[in-house]
Amino acid sequence: MVGTDVRFDLVLLPGDGIGPEVIGAAEVVLGVVGDELRREGMALACVKHPIGGAAIDETGEPLPQATLEAALGADAVLLGAVGGPRWDSLGPSQRPEAGLLGLRQALEVYANLRPATMLDGLAERSPLRSESVGGLDLLLVRELTGGVYYGQPRGREGQGASRKAVDTMAYADNEIRRVAHVAFRAARRRRGRVTSVDKRNVLETSRLWREVVDEVAGEYPDVEVQHQLVDSMAMLLVQTPSAFDVVLAENMFGDILSDELGGIVGSLGVMPSASLGDSGRGLYEPVHGSAPDIAGKDIADPLGAILSVALLVEHSLELPWVARAIESAVQGALALGLRTPDIASGRAGERLVGTREMAGEVARLLAQELFTRQSLNGAYF
Ligand code: NAD
Ligand code: IPM
Ligand code: MN
Repeated sequence: MVGTDVRFDLVLLPGDGIGPEVIGAAEVVLGVVGDELRREGMALACVKHPIGGAAIDETGEPLPQATLEAALGADAVLLGAVGGPRWDSLGPSQRPEAGLLGLRQALEVYANLRPATMLDGLAERSPLRSESVGGLDLLLVRELTGGVYYGQPRGREGQGASRKAVDTMAYADNEIRRVAHVAFRAARRRRGRVTSVDKRNVLETSRLWREVVDEVAGEYPDVEVQHQLVDSMAMLLVQTPSAFDVVLAENMFGDILSDELGGIVGSLGVMPSASLGDSGRGLYEPVHGSAPDIAGKDIADPLGAILSVALLVEHSLELPWVARAIESAVQGALALGLRTPDIASGRAGERLVGTREMAGEVARLLAQELFTRQSLNGAYF
């Protein structure tokens, strides 16, 4: 491989609150990934741009043109989090969150993969009994660029007692079809089961959703499909989370269920995500938000961001062995007993660490892992 001339361009969007802290942690890990790529004759270049509240403060807009252009020109984008109380009184299109929604739409990343797995040693932190979360390995596929987040008309009118507000949930056949294909393809590589979530007993969009999902299911006779109403799904996830393989949901249902899964696996802080479309360019972000309550204290859990780097390396850089090495370095740090406060359970053998120390340890273990692999391959002999 040495001598090839491949360069990956990454855009880092730290954003607000704990965003810059977890992206700082991800950068430490990306540094080790960059070293590995260099050994293989490739290169990794990272540039940072503002988004969300930070961008509003700097430029007056949550998604500045320069940020958008850089993201559109990148191989992959890694985002921290946006939003916070400082910008909460701004109008709907000026809010930090509008920057993120605009970015997802511009990148056309309609499929948001949110894996929920039980990391070793974290079962203690789950509010559920360890026997029901032990084998949890679920992939939530959330539709990301449609539904009530984007439907028109939306807005509000009137004053006082005559105030009115409207949001519109709308889905077209192809918006459902393309994300359903992502779910069925993923199920083929996993345990062969898709559970599609809807509210077809009430919503027109859900009736269409179920119809289209069944049509797509017809193209995957080897995959088992099951439908579940979203309210009972919320209950089943706490009752028997390990019974699910791939869970497919529209935008808002997927948003809500993914935070529930964060609670189930012990902390929202460890949940990663990958948002993909047809362009090959991906957007990667931890599932958590800007966590203003813990920002600036070096106590945020960086594992969601670091595991998002693993997803980036897998899907956008197509280097699965490096992705596996990152995941195994995360497991290694947990096995050594390292815990940020959100995942600490106070047991003997645990060591409470901050964001930076956790990232440093994961990076050290990753470097070790990659070096051992090189040695085994004979690269150093
Ligand atoms: P949040 O996810 O920021 O926080 C929820 C709870 O989880 C808080 O108690 C927080 O301290 C904790 N938490 C979150 N991430 C953590 C981490 N990495 N380590 C340890 N603890 C962590 O949700 P919220 O408080 O409802 O929202 C805060 C802001 O974040 C809002 O402005 C919201 O719009 C925004 N938000 C942004 C994103 C995103 O950028 N992708 C996602 C969700 C929420
Ligand atoms: C998420 C967040 C976002 C969403 C917000 C911040 C716009 O909650 O990524 O889960 O609702 O999609
Ligand atoms: Mn959310």
